[in-house]
Amino acid sequence: MASLRNSSAWQALAAHQRTIAGSRMRDLFAADAGRFNRFSLALDGLLLDYSKNSISRETMRLLCDLARQAEIEEWRDRMFSGRAINTTEGRPVLHVALRNRSRRAIEVDGEDVMAKVEATLGRMLAFAEAVRDGSRTGATGKPITDVVNIGIGGSHLGPAMACRALKPFQRDDLHLHFVANVDASQISETLDGLDPATTLFIVASKSFTSAETMTNAATAKSWLIEALGGQAPARHFVALSSNAEAAAVFGIEPANQFEFWDWVGGRFSLWSVIGLAIAIAIGAERFEELLSGAHTMDEHFRAAPLAENMPVILGLLGVWYINFFAAESHAVIPYDQRLELLPAYLRQAEMESNGKGVTRGGEAVDCATAPILFGEAGTIGQHSFFQLLHQGTRLVPADFIAAAEPHHSLAGHHAILLANFFAQTEALMKGRDEAETRAELKKAGLTGEALEGLVPHKLFSGNRPTNSILLRRLDPYSLGMLIALYEHKVFVQGVIWEIDSFDQWGVELGKQLAKTVLRELQGNKPIDGHDSSTNGLINEYKRLTTKSS
Ligand code: F6P
Repeated sequence: MASLRNSSAWQALAAHQRTIAGSRMRDLFAADAGRFNRFSLALDGLLLDYSKNSISRETMRLLCDLARQAEIEEWRDRMFSGRAINTTEGRPVLHVALRNRSRRAIEVDGEDVMAKVEATLGRMLAFAEAVRDGSRTGATGKPITDVVNIGIGGSHLGPAMACRALKPFQRDDLHLHFVANVDASQISETLDGLDPATTLFIVASKSFTSAETMTNAATAKSWLIEALGGQAPARHFVALSSNAEAAAVFGIEPANQFEFWDWVGGRFSLWSVIGLAIAIAIGAERFEELLSGAHTMDEHFRAAPLAENMPVILGLLGVWYINFFAAESHAVIPYDQRLELLPAYLRQAEMESNGKGVTRGGEAVDCATAPILFGEAGTIGQHSFFQLLHQGTRLVPADFIAAAEPHHSLAGHHAILLANFFAQTEALMKGRDEAETRAELKKAGLTGEALEGLVPHKLFSGNRPTNSILLRRLDPYSLGMLIALYEHKVFVQGVIWEIDSFDQWGVELGKQLAKTVLRELQGNKPIDGHDSSTNGLINEYKRLTTKSS
């Protein structure tokens, strides 16, 4: 493979970075009254303002050249047409088919997958409605009041995030719970408050082999059987999986199984049957609105020219900072408590997809790839890590996200929340220079040494980039758009870095070693087969647990 860093588009960006790195965003704004209009895009109630970035028209032109050189449009079309772009697993990548509201044919191995997508969606939504209207009862004939989604990674984060985000669309008499960790504290605390007769368990696992999910599902099953007897699981357990055989071995009959396919990646699966918890929470109609929102973003991604394409722009701006400003992290800060789980969801989407060090062809990548993604709801984040964003030594590009209309009637709160969003992005961009800092301190009555001593501490360099995403309101449709926007951003970056964004081999080794260690923890013999640290930890654990038992 030719080196990406030596490519003409890359070299042009590197040279351009040296010219623009010295300019201040506040000056770029002062020099161009049209900057907001130039560097913002709107789509169906979603505004993306990317004007507070260290960019000029030339930057965007050169970034689009990089996208063209990477053949973004060709790769995008390959994805949408069902080509096996997940090369290391030999699979198509078709989460877009799950929300293909246009019903355009999408073929895999000569078969249009839309028929089975729609049939499965219909079955899942009918089941969700039956739970909601009380006709799908538990073993004793009582309606379901509590639904526990047992899953991990993509089989947990998407449903948990979306159910949290769409809480205002849920009923008060149907409660959703999420169990992911193999740490029994989570499942036991969840089960503690539940009535077995009115609880439905969703075992969500593409592979139906994830140790955490299988362990939690077995615990839930024993709890249920103990209360209601051996026949009860047939009315209280459903499986969401592409491994029907393993689900059947666990004891879930075909009528209670909902399938999805190997061309749906775990972290892109909330649109599939993995979204059952969401459909139960908000109902079939709202679930379809979620799909429609994502489809709107898919259509935009497919059709908009590179320079006006939201996911392309977000992806390229990320590349700009990661590869040309050595930014190592990226913050996502939703100014909306309902989006509090979005950073965790995006952490898997970005870091599991693009946290890779080899190209599709198996060679070492010659540039940095996925950033460390973190975040927290605003304004809570302001009181923990914003100090570093404003005055720390690292450049941390950030996305700020909010909805203009709140879902409550306490309008005073919302104005304060949004004022903080807008002010923080302004402060990060503009900063406060020496003259302004001096003037402020003088105004506060300081003079001489006292004033001078404080100046360096009160300076804000500014020039800290943010993207602002403003939704008209947060509802299923706009949430669908927002998530699809980030999914395609991840896709764009993976294509630029020439990596396979859709495998996750990096999670295997630890899982594999844990199986050996588990066997060793169960025996009495001291262990000496590992390095001295691992041996030491295992043996100390055994000593401590032997003593205390
Ligand atoms: O963390 C690895 C991973 O395979 C994720 O990609 C996936 O979302 C998660 O585990 C859960 O996998 P499954 O749905 O097969 O239980």
